[in-house]
Amino acid sequence: MELYGIFGDPVAHSLSPVMHEAAYEELDVDADYARFHVREDRVEDAIHGATALGVDGVNVTVPHKQAVARSPSLDRSPEVDAIGAANTVDLNEMKCYNTDAAGFGRALREDGFDPTGCDALVLGAGGAARAIVYELVESGASVTVANRTVERAELLAEEFDVSGAGLEEVPGLISGVDLLVNATSVGMKEDRSPVDADVLHDGLTVFDAVYTPVRTRLLRDAEDAGADTIDGAAMLVYQGAEALEIWMERSAPVDVMDEALREALDGD
Ligand code: ATR
Repeated sequence: MELYGIFGDPVAHSLSPVMHEAAYEELDVDADYARFHVREDRVEDAIHGATALGVDGVNVTVPHKQAVARSPSLDRSPEVDAIGAANTVDLNEMKCYNTDAAGFGRALREDGFDPTGCDALVLGAGGAARAIVYELVESGASVTVANRTVERAELLAEEFDVSGAGLEEVPGLISGVDLLVNATSVGMKEDRSPVDADVLHDGLTVFDAVYTPVRTRLLRDAEDAGADTIDGAAMLVYQGAEALEIWMERSAPVDVMDEALREALDGD
Protein backbone atom coordinates (compact mmCIF):
# COMPACT_ATOMS: atom_id res chain seq x y z
CA MET A 1 0.00 0.00 0.00
CA GLU A 2 1.22 3.49 -0.86
CA LEU A 3 0.89 6.33 1.64
CA TYR A 4 0.76 10.06 0.96
CA GLY A 5 -0.29 13.13 2.93
CA ILE A 6 -0.05 16.82 3.57
CA PHE A 7 1.95 18.80 6.16
CA GLY A 8 0.34 22.03 7.36
CA ASP A 9 -0.66 24.12 10.38
CA PRO A 10 -3.62 24.37 10.28
CA VAL A 11 -4.36 21.42 8.01
CA ALA A 12 -7.82 20.21 9.09
CA HIS A 13 -9.61 21.97 6.22
CA SER A 14 -7.23 20.93 3.44
CA LEU A 15 -9.11 19.58 0.44
CA SER A 16 -6.09 17.72 -0.92
CA PRO A 17 -7.24 14.36 0.57
CA VAL A 18 -10.55 14.60 -1.29
CA MET A 19 -8.78 15.22 -4.60
CA HIS A 20 -6.08 12.59 -4.21
CA GLU A 21 -8.35 9.86 -2.86
CA ALA A 22 -10.72 10.36 -5.79
CA ALA A 23 -7.70 9.87 -8.06
CA TYR A 24 -6.62 6.65 -6.28
CA GLU A 25 -10.07 5.19 -6.72
CA GLU A 26 -10.17 6.10 -10.41
CA LEU A 27 -6.66 4.69 -10.98
CA ASP A 28 -7.46 1.63 -8.87
CA VAL A 29 -4.29 2.04 -6.78
CA ASP A 30 -4.05 0.91 -3.17
CA ALA A 31 -3.11 4.21 -1.52
CA ASP A 32 -4.15 6.53 1.31
CA TYR A 33 -3.73 10.29 1.77
CA ALA A 34 -3.60 11.72 5.32
CA ARG A 35 -3.54 15.18 6.90
CA PHE A 36 -0.50 15.68 9.17
CA HIS A 37 -0.70 18.58 11.60
CA VAL A 38 2.95 19.63 11.81
CA ARG A 39 4.09 22.46 14.11
CA GLU A 40 6.48 25.09 12.84
CA ASP A 41 9.50 23.80 14.80
CA ARG A 42 8.91 20.14 13.85
CA VAL A 43 9.11 20.28 10.04
CA GLU A 44 12.50 18.57 9.81
CA ASP A 45 11.43 15.92 12.35
CA ALA A 46 8.25 15.37 10.34
CA ILE A 47 10.25 14.75 7.14
CA HIS A 48 12.38 12.14 8.91
CA GLY A 49 9.42 10.63 10.78
CA ALA A 50 7.33 10.25 7.65
CA THR A 51 10.27 8.72 5.79
CA ALA A 52 10.86 6.25 8.63
CA LEU A 53 7.19 5.26 8.57
CA GLY A 54 7.34 4.53 4.86
CA VAL A 55 5.27 7.50 3.66
CA ASP A 56 5.95 7.84 -0.08
CA GLY A 57 5.29 11.54 -0.52
CA VAL A 58 3.74 14.64 1.02
CA ASN A 59 2.30 17.93 -0.07
CA VAL A 60 3.20 20.96 2.00
CA THR A 61 0.97 23.91 2.78
CA VAL A 62 1.05 27.08 4.87
CA PRO A 63 3.25 27.89 6.75
CA HIS A 64 5.85 25.22 5.90
CA LYS A 65 6.61 25.73 2.19
CA GLN A 66 9.73 27.82 2.83
CA ALA A 67 11.03 25.56 5.62
CA VAL A 68 10.73 22.47 3.42
CA ALA A 69 12.52 24.29 0.59
CA ARG A 70 15.43 24.91 3.00
CA SER A 71 15.50 21.39 4.43
CA PRO A 72 19.07 20.03 4.58
CA SER A 73 17.66 16.52 4.07
CA LEU A 74 16.13 17.19 0.65
CA ASP A 75 17.33 17.81 -2.89
CA ARG A 76 15.55 20.67 -4.66
CA SER A 77 14.10 21.05 -8.13
CA PRO A 78 15.17 24.19 -10.05
CA GLU A 79 11.69 25.72 -9.39
CA VAL A 80 12.17 25.36 -5.63
CA ASP A 81 15.56 27.07 -5.83
CA ALA A 82 14.06 29.99 -7.80
CA ILE A 83 10.79 30.35 -5.86
CA GLY A 84 12.16 29.56 -2.39
CA ALA A 85 9.12 27.42 -1.53
CA ALA A 86 8.21 23.75 -1.96
CA ASN A 87 4.74 22.19 -1.90
CA THR A 88 5.57 18.59 -2.88
CA VAL A 89 8.10 16.11 -1.48
CA ASP A 90 9.02 12.74 -2.93
CA LEU A 91 10.17 10.92 0.22
CA ASN A 92 11.51 7.93 -1.73
CA GLU A 93 13.85 10.24 -3.65
CA MET A 94 14.23 12.77 -0.78
CA LYS A 95 13.56 15.60 -3.24
CA CYS A 96 11.21 18.58 -3.07
CA TYR A 97 9.32 20.33 -5.87
CA ASN A 98 7.06 23.32 -6.43
CA THR A 99 4.00 22.23 -8.40
CA ASP A 100 2.10 25.50 -7.72
CA ALA A 101 4.04 27.08 -10.59
CA ALA A 102 3.40 24.27 -13.09
CA GLY A 103 -0.18 23.94 -11.81
CA PHE A 104 -0.83 27.58 -12.60
CA GLY A 105 0.70 27.22 -16.07
CA ARG A 106 -1.37 24.12 -16.80
CA ALA A 107 -4.57 25.84 -15.61
CA LEU A 108 -3.91 28.64 -18.14
CA ARG A 109 -3.03 26.35 -21.05
CA GLU A 110 -5.88 23.91 -20.46
CA ASP A 111 -8.20 26.89 -20.68
CA GLY A 112 -6.68 27.77 -24.05
CA PHE A 113 -4.55 30.70 -22.87
CA ASP A 114 -0.96 30.55 -24.13
CA PRO A 115 1.19 32.79 -21.88
CA THR A 116 4.13 32.85 -24.33
CA GLY A 117 4.76 36.47 -25.30
CA CYS A 118 1.71 37.80 -23.44
CA ASP A 119 1.59 40.93 -21.28
CA ALA A 120 0.69 39.90 -17.74
CA LEU A 121 -0.17 41.95 -14.67
CA VAL A 122 0.17 40.07 -11.37
CA LEU A 123 -1.41 41.53 -8.22
CA GLY A 124 0.41 40.57 -5.01
CA ALA A 125 3.98 39.89 -3.95
CA GLY A 126 3.63 37.00 -1.45
CA GLY A 127 4.22 33.27 -1.83
CA ALA A 128 1.47 32.68 -4.40
CA ALA A 129 2.73 35.58 -6.52
CA ARG A 130 6.29 34.20 -6.50
CA ALA A 131 5.23 30.86 -8.01
CA ILE A 132 3.00 32.60 -10.58
CA VAL A 133 5.63 35.16 -11.63
CA TYR A 134 8.21 32.38 -11.95
CA GLU A 135 5.93 30.38 -14.26
CA LEU A 136 5.02 33.40 -16.39
CA VAL A 137 8.66 34.41 -16.83
CA GLU A 138 9.62 30.81 -17.71
CA SER A 139 6.81 30.83 -20.30
CA GLY A 140 8.17 33.96 -21.95
CA ALA A 141 5.50 36.39 -20.72
CA SER A 142 6.22 40.05 -20.10
CA VAL A 143 5.29 40.62 -16.44
CA THR A 144 4.44 43.55 -14.18
CA VAL A 145 3.94 42.89 -10.46
CA ALA A 146 1.70 45.34 -8.58
CA ASN A 147 1.38 45.22 -4.82
CA ARG A 148 -0.19 47.25 -2.00
CA THR A 149 3.25 47.50 -0.39
CA VAL A 150 5.17 48.73 -3.41
CA GLU A 151 8.59 47.90 -1.89
CA ARG A 152 7.67 44.20 -1.87
CA ALA A 153 6.63 44.43 -5.54
CA GLU A 154 9.93 46.08 -6.40
CA LEU A 155 11.98 43.45 -4.56
CA LEU A 156 10.16 40.61 -6.30
CA ALA A 157 10.40 42.40 -9.65
CA GLU A 158 14.15 42.83 -9.25
CA GLU A 159 14.63 39.19 -8.32
CA PHE A 160 12.73 37.90 -11.38
CA ASP A 161 13.83 40.71 -13.72
CA VAL A 162 10.29 42.03 -14.33
CA SER A 163 8.56 45.40 -13.61
CA GLY A 164 7.22 46.47 -10.21
CA ALA A 165 4.35 48.86 -9.42
CA GLY A 166 1.91 49.98 -6.74
CA LEU A 167 -1.77 48.94 -6.79
CA GLU A 168 -2.78 52.54 -7.62
CA GLU A 169 -1.04 52.13 -11.00
CA VAL A 170 -3.28 49.18 -11.98
CA PRO A 171 -6.01 51.23 -13.77
CA GLY A 172 -3.38 52.83 -16.00
CA LEU A 173 -1.60 49.54 -16.73
CA ILE A 174 -4.55 47.26 -17.32
CA SER A 175 -5.68 48.49 -20.75
CA GLY A 176 -2.57 47.11 -22.44
CA VAL A 177 -2.60 43.76 -20.68
CA ASP A 178 -3.67 40.26 -21.91
CA LEU A 179 -3.66 38.50 -18.54
CA LEU A 180 -4.60 39.78 -15.07
CA VAL A 181 -3.76 37.52 -12.12
CA ASN A 182 -4.94 38.06 -8.55
CA ALA A 183 -2.32 36.55 -6.24
CA THR A 184 -3.37 38.66 -3.23
CA SER A 185 -5.72 37.34 -0.56
CA VAL A 186 -8.34 39.97 -1.43
CA GLY A 187 -11.67 38.25 -2.12
CA MET A 188 -10.95 35.26 0.12
CA LYS A 189 -14.09 34.64 2.19
CA GLU A 190 -15.26 38.18 1.39
CA ASP A 191 -17.15 39.82 -1.46
CA ARG A 192 -14.40 42.20 -2.45
CA SER A 193 -12.22 42.63 -5.55
CA PRO A 194 -8.64 43.92 -5.72
CA VAL A 195 -9.53 46.09 -8.79
CA ASP A 196 -12.44 48.36 -9.71
CA ALA A 197 -14.89 46.64 -12.05
CA ASP A 198 -14.83 49.49 -14.58
CA VAL A 199 -11.16 48.94 -15.52
CA LEU A 200 -11.78 45.33 -16.66
CA HIS A 201 -12.17 44.84 -20.41
CA ASP A 202 -13.18 42.15 -22.86
CA GLY A 203 -9.68 41.51 -24.26
CA LEU A 204 -8.53 40.21 -20.86
CA THR A 205 -8.12 36.76 -19.39
CA VAL A 206 -8.58 37.07 -15.62
CA PHE A 207 -7.18 34.42 -13.29
CA ASP A 208 -7.95 34.46 -9.56
CA ALA A 209 -5.76 32.31 -7.30
CA VAL A 210 -8.41 32.69 -4.56
CA TYR A 211 -10.82 29.71 -4.56
CA THR A 212 -13.03 30.41 -1.52
CA PRO A 213 -15.46 31.22 -3.05
CA VAL A 214 -14.73 29.71 -6.46
CA ARG A 215 -16.63 32.54 -8.23
CA THR A 216 -14.97 35.52 -6.57
CA ARG A 217 -16.15 39.10 -6.97
CA LEU A 218 -13.22 39.71 -9.34
CA LEU A 219 -14.22 36.80 -11.60
CA ARG A 220 -17.88 37.87 -11.62
CA ASP A 221 -16.90 41.45 -12.51
CA ALA A 222 -14.56 40.12 -15.22
CA GLU A 223 -17.31 37.98 -16.71
CA ASP A 224 -19.65 41.01 -16.76
CA ALA A 225 -16.93 42.96 -18.62
CA GLY A 226 -16.75 40.21 -21.27
CA ALA A 227 -13.35 38.90 -20.10
CA ASP A 228 -12.38 35.21 -19.99
CA THR A 229 -12.05 33.84 -16.46
CA ILE A 230 -10.07 31.01 -14.87
CA ASP A 231 -10.67 30.17 -11.21
CA GLY A 232 -8.29 29.19 -8.42
CA ALA A 233 -9.78 25.70 -8.10
CA ALA A 234 -8.19 24.90 -11.48
CA MET A 235 -4.72 25.80 -10.11
CA LEU A 236 -5.37 23.69 -7.01
CA VAL A 237 -6.36 20.69 -9.12
CA TYR A 238 -3.36 20.95 -11.43
CA GLN A 239 -0.82 21.41 -8.62
CA GLY A 240 -2.29 18.22 -7.12
CA ALA A 241 -2.20 16.44 -10.48
CA GLU A 242 1.44 17.44 -10.96
CA ALA A 243 2.30 16.11 -7.48
CA LEU A 244 0.57 12.78 -8.18
CA GLU A 245 2.45 12.51 -11.47
CA ILE A 246 5.80 13.06 -9.72
CA TRP A 247 5.00 10.44 -7.07
CA MET A 248 3.38 7.80 -9.25
CA GLU A 249 5.03 8.47 -12.62
CA ARG A 250 1.70 8.19 -14.42
CA SER A 251 -0.95 10.61 -15.70
CA ALA A 252 -3.34 12.00 -13.11
CA PRO A 253 -7.10 11.69 -13.72
CA VAL A 254 -7.57 15.45 -13.76
CA ASP A 255 -11.32 15.46 -14.47
CA VAL A 256 -12.06 13.19 -11.52
CA MET A 257 -9.87 15.28 -9.20
CA ASP A 258 -11.54 18.47 -10.44
CA GLU A 259 -15.02 17.09 -9.87
CA ALA A 260 -14.19 15.87 -6.34
CA LEU A 261 -12.61 19.20 -5.40
CA ARG A 262 -15.46 21.32 -6.75
CA GLU A 263 -18.03 19.18 -4.98
CA ALA A 264 -16.13 19.60 -1.69
CA LEU A 265 -15.77 23.36 -2.26
CA ASP A 266 -19.51 23.62 -2.94
CA GLY A 267 -20.25 21.91 0.34
CA ASP A 268 -18.02 24.34 2.30
P1 ATR B 1 0.37 34.16 -0.01
O1 ATR B 1 1.47 33.22 0.43
O2 ATR B 1 -0.98 33.52 -0.07
O3 ATR B 1 0.70 34.88 -1.25
P2 ATR B 1 1.13 36.39 1.67
O4 ATR B 1 2.56 36.07 1.48
O5 ATR B 1 0.64 36.73 3.05
O6 ATR B 1 0.19 35.20 1.20
O7 ATR B 1 0.72 37.57 0.66
C1 ATR B 1 -0.53 38.15 0.67
C2 ATR B 1 -0.59 39.15 -0.49
O8 ATR B 1 -1.91 39.75 -0.49
C3 ATR B 1 0.39 40.29 -0.36
O9 ATR B 1 0.78 40.70 -1.66
C4 ATR B 1 -0.46 41.38 0.32
O10 ATR B 1 -0.02 42.70 0.09
P3 ATR B 1 1.10 43.38 1.07
O11 ATR B 1 2.43 42.84 0.60
O12 ATR B 1 0.95 44.83 0.84
O13 ATR B 1 0.74 42.95 2.47
C5 ATR B 1 -1.78 41.16 -0.36
N1 ATR B 1 -2.91 41.69 0.42
C6 ATR B 1 -3.43 41.20 1.56
N2 ATR B 1 -4.47 41.96 1.97
C7 ATR B 1 -4.60 42.97 1.06
C8 ATR B 1 -5.49 44.07 0.92
N3 ATR B 1 -6.48 44.30 1.80
N4 ATR B 1 -5.35 44.89 -0.15
C9 ATR B 1 -4.36 44.67 -1.06
N5 ATR B 1 -3.48 43.64 -0.99
C10 ATR B 1 -3.60 42.79 0.07
